[in-house]
Amino acid sequence: MKQTTVDVHPRFAVGEVSPLIFGGFLEHMGRCVYEGVYEPGSRHADDDGFRDDVLAALRELQMTVMRYPGGNFASGYHWRDGVGPRGDRPVVKDLAWQSLESNQFGTDEFIKLCTKMNWEPMVAVNLGTGTPEEARDWVEYCNSSAPSRFARLRAENGAAEPYGVKYWCLGNEMDGPWQLGHVPASQYAIRAQQAAKMMKDCDRSIRNVVCGSSAVTMPTYLDWDRQVLEYVGGLAHYVSLHRYVGNPDGNAEDYLAIGNSIDEQIESVDACCRYVQAKLGRQRRAYLCFDEWNVWYKARTESDMDGQDKFAPHLVEEIYNAEDALVVAQFLNSFIRHADVVKIANLAQIVNVIAPLMTRGDRLLKQSIFYAFQLFSEKKTGLSLRLAVDGPGYTTDRYREVSYLDCSAILNHRAGELTFFMVNRSPGESLPIAVNLHDLMIDSVADQRILHHDKLDAVNTFEQPEEVVPRSFDQVSINGDTFTAALPAASLLRLVLKLH
Ligand code: AHR
Repeated sequence: MKQTTVDVHPRFAVGEVSPLIFGGFLEHMGRCVYEGVYEPGSRHADDDGFRDDVLAALRELQMTVMRYPGGNFASGYHWRDGVGPRGDRPVVKDLAWQSLESNQFGTDEFIKLCTKMNWEPMVAVNLGTGTPEEARDWVEYCNSSAPSRFARLRAENGAAEPYGVKYWCLGNEMDGPWQLGHVPASQYAIRAQQAAKMMKDCDRSIRNVVCGSSAVTMPTYLDWDRQVLEYVGGLAHYVSLHRYVGNPDGNAEDYLAIGNSIDEQIESVDACCRYVQAKLGRQRRAYLCFDEWNVWYKARTESDMDGQDKFAPHLVEEIYNAEDALVVAQFLNSFIRHADVVKIANLAQIVNVIAPLMTRGDRLLKQSIFYAFQLFSEKKTGLSLRLAVDGPGYTTDRYREVSYLDCSAILNHRAGELTFFMVNRSPGESLPIAVNLHDLMIDSVADQRILHHDKLDAVNTFEQPEEVVPRSFDQVSINGDTFTAALPAASLLRLVLKLH
């Protein structure tokens, strides 16, 4: 394969990488909450009923923000069911996932978990079957220090101090006919504006996320976003993007080109935000909150989504392979490349349900995507640099022209480090690269790790948990302000350079 060259200059930066793009998503769905993070009966349970093995693994992912309680679940959820003495909380039917919800885990447990994990909480209110007023009451419960009804209720439930929840999603996927309480854009915009106003009147410091399009394939894609942003105006700090991708046809080249379309989705929604800002003549614009993203296509049958009136049923327990890990890496590369506009992102979800972690009884498994996320998250601090990539590529039906190299770079001035995340998309050939840092002199290679497996469909199992894990790599040669390497076929290289 011909060499790919990359040119980087420290003066050409996209922007500071928002730490909040390394977020997660905890939904009351399947075994994400119960048998996932929370299982008082487990031998791993801590004093609060959280599974300390799961939390220890999540700590390794260094997530920064956690979205809760859904997802589709949010559109039928009434937060008051989940607070107060546990014995008094009702068992309810969850219509989103046809499951039973015990409400043993609710707002107070969620906040306790966030505090333990050092996660910024992000709460999605019910704008499907709930009212703007119910949403505003939830803000009061979480954030008010006044001696008023819901703040008092929180204190009675054991938390005298307000929780200070800053990020609030105004519903979930309201453009989708599958959503409880789905309405057209014009009606959602009214609901969202009413809720946002009351919520903000309750606590001026909060930041709202309006529902954008739930998929790029929606017939109302972008038009929905435009209408909602125009109507909600300055009360919308962020607009949400969702994306689930997969390889149902077993076409690796096509699947591994998907980063192109993630770039395109981000740039299209960004264009929509800029259009609305210019049209309304506003100083402030809405930024992008990619609050659900992942690979999800294998566990997607009807029965995967039907909880059959059970508590914590096995739902969408996707098994991830080596190829999926490279796609997760491309999502993160795209977020970093668009650091100026993507400010929050949440991997959906965190355990058991389309997740990097799986529990089985007392056991815990780290899936391939766990390692891709971890490699990035550990080195997330700094400035995203613009990269000029020139090299061979290929054409796919769905994603047109792509280069074999998918790449991002973060310059951490304080640590004196420059980190590259490089995916070789070629399933069959190694990729020679030459990178020129233009006056940034390399002192040494601080760390080089590769995530790669000869078989794209290789997976980690409880029996063989270390099939797809990062390994050390020693193929990078440095020389002044340049380095060269040959990336193995279908691999992710994380390269940390120490700078002079
Ligand atoms: O993450 C699983 C589901 O996918 C969420 O509940 C929903 O928002 C999306 O469609």
